[in-house]
Amino acid sequence: MYKKLMACVESIRKKTNFKPEVALILGSGLGDYADGIKVEATVDYSDIEGFPVSTVTGHKGRFVFGYVEDVPVVIMQGRVHYYEGYPMSEVVLPTRLMGMLGAKKLFLTNAAGGINETFEPGTLMMITDHITTAVPNPLIGKNIEELGVRFPDMSEVYSNRLREVIREAAKECGVKIREGVYVQLTGPSYETPAEIRMCRGWGGDAVGMSTACEAIAARHMGLEVCGISCITNLAAGMSTAKLDHKEVQETADRVSAEFKKLVTQVIVSM
Ligand code: HPA
Repeated sequence: MYKKLMACVESIRKKTNFKPEVALILGSGLGDYADGIKVEATVDYSDIEGFPVSTVTGHKGRFVFGYVEDVPVVIMQGRVHYYEGYPMSEVVLPTRLMGMLGAKKLFLTNAAGGINETFEPGTLMMITDHITTAVPNPLIGKNIEELGVRFPDMSEVYSNRLREVIREAAKECGVKIREGVYVQLTGPSYETPAEIRMCRGWGGDAVGMSTACEAIAARHMGLEVCGISCITNLAAGMSTAKLDHKEVQETADRVSAEFKKLVTQVIVSM
């Protein structure tokens, strides 16, 4: 795996020498955030040999290198999901690559279902912690010693410092945010009402199909991590409505202007 990562780094380095400080992964509704930054270079995933290519429509697949104000960033426009059929070690390959390209901080975003009964569709939730008990750990397999230790600590995955930065940034730009625990499940089917009750019993506030595995891989290699979920819908069984991807997309699009404003403010304050 480390050799494969190094080959990917080399193939990106043939196209750009850009050194990012912050890595940003875009979830649903934020896909076009990268179009609004000062772009220095883009690299399509399909041009990187051995790279897992995303198959979900609406998820573009490329790295965008550039500046948010004067902060050098690398943005993943389109992520890889476990439900696409890749092993977890492949799902987190792009995250690891961004770290190997120089990023010191990882900013995760996603769309998620709301488990917390006080959340409404459109709520932005800062991730305080996560639960990945129901999905394979991305670090399973031979440890990549070059990246980190066999048994990495996970007692502060989402950095206390960056959490304070997010709270301040939200105040600064007048965006209301809530806080909570993100539960990652595999998907691609949405949860059953019984599964949602289980997640609530576990202590979850939001549920989704990404993000936490990326946070684990990033912490393994020592990146500072933070994340924000856009609660696009009430989770299964919490309303009479059936869940569908269209509703998720529509809510994400509805709050995207506010979400983007917050993302920018966070990045410049990191
Ligand atoms: N469940 C899982 N993933 C999701 C949801 C959901 O309700 N909404 C957006 N992503």
